[in-house]
Amino acid sequence: MHETHIKTSGPQYTETHFKIYRSFGNLNMFSLRSWRLLFSLVFSFLILQAHGHDPKIETYIVYMGDHPKEMHVAELHHMNMVQKVLGRNFAPEALLHSYKKSFNAFAVRLTQEQAERMAEMDGVISVFQSKTHKPQTTRSWDFIGFPRKVNRSSLESDVIIGVIDYGIWPESDSFNDHGFSSPPKKWKGSCQNITCNNKIIGAKYFRVDGSFGKDDIISPRDSYGHGTHCASTVAGNWVNSAGLFGLGKGTARGGVPSARIAVYKPCWSLGCETADILAAFDEAIFDGVDILSVSLGAQSVVHPDLFQDVFAIGAFHAMKKGILTSTSAGNLGSELSTMTSFAPWSLSVAASTIDRKYSTKVQLGNGRVFEGVSMNTFDLHHKTYPLIYSGDAPNITGGFNSSRSRLCEQNSLDEAKVKGKIVLCDSLPNDLASLSGAAGFLLAGFFETDAASLFRFPLPFAVLTLTDGISILSYLNFTSNPTVAIYKTNEGKDSLAPYVASFSSRGPNMITPNILKPDIAAPGVDIIAAWPSITPISEVEGDKRLSKFNIISGTSMACPHATAAAAYVKSFHPTWSPAAIKSALMTTATPMSPALNPEAELAYGAGQINPIKAVSPGLVYDISESDYVRFLCGQGYNRTSLRSITDEEVNCKKIENETVWDLNLPSFALKRNISVSFSSVFHRTVTNVVATKSVYKAEVIVPRSLLTIQVTPSVLSFSSVGEKKSFTVLIEGTINMEIVSASLTWDDGNSQVRSPIVVYGTQ
Ligand SMILES: *[C@@H]1O[C@H](CO)[C@@H](O)[C@H](O)[C@H]1NC(C)=O
Ligand SMILES: *[C@@H]1O[C@H](CO)[C@@H](O)[C@H](O)[C@H]1NC(C)=O
Ligand SMILES: *[C@@H]1O[C@H](CO)[C@@H](O)[C@H](O)[C@H]1NC(C)=O
Ligand SMILES: *[C@@H]1O[C@H](CO)[C@@H](O)[C@H](O)[C@H]1NC(C)=O
Ligand SMILES: *[C@@H]1O[C@H](CO)[C@@H](O)[C@H](O)[C@H]1NC(C)=O
Ligand SMILES: *[C@@H]1O[C@H](CO)[C@@H](O)[C@H](O)[C@H]1NC(C)=O
Ligand SMILES: *[C@@H]1O[C@H](CO)[C@@H](O)[C@H](O)[C@H]1NC(C)=O
Ligand SMILES: *[C@@H]1O[C@H](CO)[C@@H](O)[C@H](O)[C@H]1NC(C)=O
Repeated sequence: MHETHIKTSGPQYTETHFKIYRSFGNLNMFSLRSWRLLFSLVFSFLILQAHGHDPKIETYIVYMGDHPKEMHVAELHHMNMVQKVLGRNFAPEALLHSYKKSFNAFAVRLTQEQAERMAEMDGVISVFQSKTHKPQTTRSWDFIGFPRKVNRSSLESDVIIGVIDYGIWPESDSFNDHGFSSPPKKWKGSCQNITCNNKIIGAKYFRVDGSFGKDDIISPRDSYGHGTHCASTVAGNWVNSAGLFGLGKGTARGGVPSARIAVYKPCWSLGCETADILAAFDEAIFDGVDILSVSLGAQSVVHPDLFQDVFAIGAFHAMKKGILTSTSAGNLGSELSTMTSFAPWSLSVAASTIDRKYSTKVQLGNGRVFEGVSMNTFDLHHKTYPLIYSGDAPNITGGFNSSRSRLCEQNSLDEAKVKGKIVLCDSLPNDLASLSGAAGFLLAGFFETDAASLFRFPLPFAVLTLTDGISILSYLNFTSNPTVAIYKTNEGKDSLAPYVASFSSRGPNMITPNILKPDIAAPGVDIIAAWPSITPISEVEGDKRLSKFNIISGTSMACPHATAAAAYVKSFHPTWSPAAIKSALMTTATPMSPALNPEAELAYGAGQINPIKAVSPGLVYDISESDYVRFLCGQGYNRTSLRSITDEEVNCKKIENETVWDLNLPSFALKRNISVSFSSVFHRTVTNVVATKSVYKAEVIVPRSLLTIQVTPSVLSFSSVGEKKSFTVLIEGTINMEIVSASLTWDDGNSQVRSPIVVYGTQ
């Protein structure tokens, strides 16, 4: 769901999006965000209408924990439960799907009242409504220091990446299986509709209620683009001469080009339903994927119970099978508390910029040049066109005056007046129809524009600052025949990179405030990767541009970078647990600058991924299933409910005095009141993963005027692989600002095992 831009799925969606745009189409990126938030409201409104006055029947997920011992009776049992709750109204079709391969759950059509009764039944852990989610290269790999010629493990081709998304375009060069051997023996997956090869070894689609949109291709084939883009970012082959109409030219490549891909498609033109996403997890875990990549998430900030969150449930059962799930942080930034991925067993990935920056030059007839932002693929060969201000071209016969036409609203422009000209608008048009005869258009006023690919239209276009807009208006006022040229987008360098994109969701973690989220940052801005050859490169109606590669932005693009880094680590250490891989990625991440992101760790977690370093982290913070279960006890889940998700012996009473922040994570977060002194202790255990003897010293970086941090013991000695040592971190002080950053690094001269520490305040 986390592709941030002005578009997403099929034409239906585009239409809706244009309508919403109109009510908002104003000025800054904030309107983009509001648009996203509003979209979900409008959307649920449409559904409401469709159902009329009767008690609304919706799809609910009934979650019952670990997979049933006897798979074949699970469905009968589920049917029985449905029968009990529906009574006289029972019809077998109400049970949409039984999940029984990797966990125990079912999807069922119920009224709210029936759902409440279902929640009371024996064995039920949670009941929650199925919702619609949305999706949120390859300079990016080089930028993070992961060049094409890195050492690769011979086991890389045994690693199977499960991608839960919009499917795949199998004919893309990125998925050619030339040189691949047959799939690893352990693999149980298969392909529906499309023929598997030795690169794409699994492909399945999911639609538990059987309803499809008119533009859906009923197969794992991706007609939308997002799935193909994500899969090729993780594990696409090297493809020379990639590019989007000459932009982003070069070799496209996935992070682990030898790894295998298995796609699970729960996403359709109307979005991705919870019930289908859960089915994808159920199947992928059972098939035997090694890492899961899930660039999807909630459309608005909700803080459900962890076991009412399809991504947390799916990732939990994946973790039990040794599978790390990489998820996108969300695209609801830049405000705080906008994360949509919370589970401590998942890797939550923020989107950062790379040093490749796209800009679009705009030149007035008087020679003055402005640097605009957009992804303009049209080359007009520097030709100038007459310039007109939208406020000066109202559709008077249609009853519009300049206060409407300046916003370039639907129908508000006089087509005859704008024909063949470049139009300066004060707002993004909600519909390009009245601009169809124009030579191009400019928008003055967006100021947060760190992702050029958010602005892709089927005619020449650039976004300018408000100040530049005023200069252009003044030029218009004083010039009899004003003209302007919009150049094709140009690739430049951004020496400030990396920083976290404004759209990337920020922490803190709203469910467990003392656990840091996001975990890590990875490239997610203007990323080029494979695209289906039938899918236009933007979703704006009328766009007919096709390309085998596309450049898009979102935490959806960051997630597959982190997935590939995790797969790279796994290829060297096949037996490492999901937590150990996550720890390796976090403790070796490159610290990022709070000067560029005032939200600091709450924006970038441990920092930017560094796959090469992550292969040799020195020490790891490991977490077992029973540690997570203890954590869940601390979160208020009781023995009864936990017994059904784990085989471990659970005694929540015994551990009720432990704190949530004692979960053995490679990061430290504390929420504390501003101006109130505090003293808090964290307990941690590190595991040595290097064969040689080593002595690690604790190095703490802390703003001493605010905090003191004491690590005990401050020296840890190891002599064998697998040896564990425990320590405590005492943090004391008073914070007088919102966010205070510090860090703890265990250093043996070879390895620097760095953990971010963040104390953040509430009034
Ligand atoms: C690659 O592996 C070789 C042999 O193990 C090692 O000497 C070299 O330092 C490694 N290079 C990198 C970039 O890790
Ligand atoms: C894929 O297979 C399913 C089930 O056999 C079928 O209903 C569907 O039409 C097929 N899709 C395509 C595009 O052939
Ligand atoms: C002017 O507005 C009317 C009514 O909205 C619309 O039908 C017409 O197409 C518009 N005219 C132009 C030239 O855009
Ligand atoms: C434009 O029309 C609206 C009514 O549609 C009116 O309220 C407004 O004053 C008009 N603005 C100008 C500049 O004429
Ligand atoms: C352009 O002229 C209009 C009126 O003729 C005036 O209201 C406006 O402020 C002028 N804009 C600039 C930028 O000079
Ligand atoms: C455990 O939690 C469930 C659901 O929250 C609740 O219904 C049940 O009463 C609890 N059991 C105990 C022993 O507290
Ligand atoms: C938890 O701590 C309180 C006070 O420190 C103590 O009275 C209580 O017995 C402890 N509970 C358990 C289960 O250890
Ligand atoms: C922190 O602030 C909250 C809300 O204002 C208050 O309830 C709580 O008691 C405070 N904690 C301390 C330690 O002062």
